[in-house]
Amino acid sequence: MSEDDQSGDVVRRDRFSGGPAREFLSSLAADERIFQADLDVDRAHVVMLAEQEIIGEDDASAILDALDSVAEAGHDALPDGEDVHAAIETAVIERVGPDGGRMHTARSRNDEVATCIRYRLREDVLDLVETVVDAREQLCEVAEAEADTVMPGYTHLQPAQPVTVGHWVASYEQALQRDTERLLDAFDRINRSPLGGGAFGGVSFDVDRDRTAELLGFDGVIENSMDAASARDFMVETTSAVATLATTLSGLAEDLVVFANRGFVDLADDYSSTSSIMPQKVNPDTLELVRGRTGDATAALNGLLTTLKGLPRAYNRDLQRATGHAWDAIDSVSASVEVATGAVVTADWPVEELEAAAAAGFSTATGVADLLAKSGVPFRTAHEIVATAAAEIEGSDADAPDYETLNAVVQDVLGESLSAYVDERDVEAALDPAESAAMRDSRGGPAPEAVEAQLATANAVREEHAALVAGRRDAVEESLEDLQAEVASYV
Ligand code: ARG
Repeated sequence: MSEDDQSGDVVRRDRFSGGPAREFLSSLAADERIFQADLDVDRAHVVMLAEQEIIGEDDASAILDALDSVAEAGHDALPDGEDVHAAIETAVIERVGPDGGRMHTARSRNDEVATCIRYRLREDVLDLVETVVDAREQLCEVAEAEADTVMPGYTHLQPAQPVTVGHWVASYEQALQRDTERLLDAFDRINRSPLGGGAFGGVSFDVDRDRTAELLGFDGVIENSMDAASARDFMVETTSAVATLATTLSGLAEDLVVFANRGFVDLADDYSSTSSIMPQKVNPDTLELVRGRTGDATAALNGLLTTLKGLPRAYNRDLQRATGHAWDAIDSVSASVEVATGAVVTADWPVEELEAAAAAGFSTATGVADLLAKSGVPFRTAHEIVATAAAEIEGSDADAPDYETLNAVVQDVLGESLSAYVDERDVEAALDPAESAAMRDSRGGPAPEAVEAQLATANAVREEHAALVAGRRDAVEESLEDLQAEVASYV
């Protein structure tokens, strides 16, 4: 539609004045994302209307035929309109004539848009879950390959205990398991049909809401028509799950930034950037962007909640502004999953540097205290002994107190020499970072066998999740095929 022909769509007719409010009202450009969804929602609705004899079969086939032609022409070819729903209806009426106007019998744009958003969002969520599941597989492979690569572990950014690279990677994989579960959970509440609820107050036609839900692959309907038009909590839940996923990824990214800074990891060039002025710089920019994009998801969640807060029943146009937040979060974070995983998969772990760093700051102290505790010394006393020995080497170059230093403290506190409690060889072993990590072989711990066991569970859980996504995907696709077959019987 040309600029001077602003009579607008079939919904607004001559009430489009052409002033600044016209652009302001319109969601048509942003609605490109639900163009395909709206066509399918229209198709299912028209099939149901014909089956219920609310409209005639001839009208149904003319409308369904027109919808195919609108689909073929694409979103960009739509006539002007306040939104994709009005524009598609206008395009149908242009093709069919006034009888095309029967398409909007027994529904409103309110139940229509809510259905379209759910229809599209469930697709996006399945795509995102697939991306995360794929990332988890790649992370498990890295964890497996680096199960016995020793590295320093930190609390408060201070050397704490030696762990393994496999243990670190598996820790993020495990967090991603929960992120996956949250998204799959959200899917179940997204996948309900509001269609047939009308503007909010139901309709006076004998519609079959279960039928449209079935044709569109929904698991059921949103029962109350007022709730059907109003509810956007499915977007809050999804965006919150996405923001939580982004937070997981930002932790991983931050760890890699710190590791790179300390020379514990060599990031592949693809995941680094350079400085335009400082020739020596290789910076972990991609990971900083993964960290930064968490802000996009958090902002989206805030935007959504702020938009929805205090909205009265039932439909209010504020809802049009809510939708974009959900898309923003999904788009921003999907890319982060792939980049963060790619950075881990392509990274090099310098084994010797890591092992040396794992010994620094007397990281092995817990293992020495454990050794004394195992020989019968109360753990608190052992802790005190090792802490005293640690204080003695403060300010020196030594990573850890030597046997003699420990022995002197033991003699002082317990009145007997260290050898009365433990073998010198065992003390030496406890001071070795690889041995120290291997000692902590409790369930979920950093020891290589413990990491292997975690990965076995992780692989099984991942396969379960992959099967759940595939099942949901198949169900959606099957219903789409049924819908196409129904449409084909009319055109
Ligand atoms: N574009 C609108 C949205 O996204 C569609 C619903 C319009 N309904 C209305 N009553 N004005 O929410």
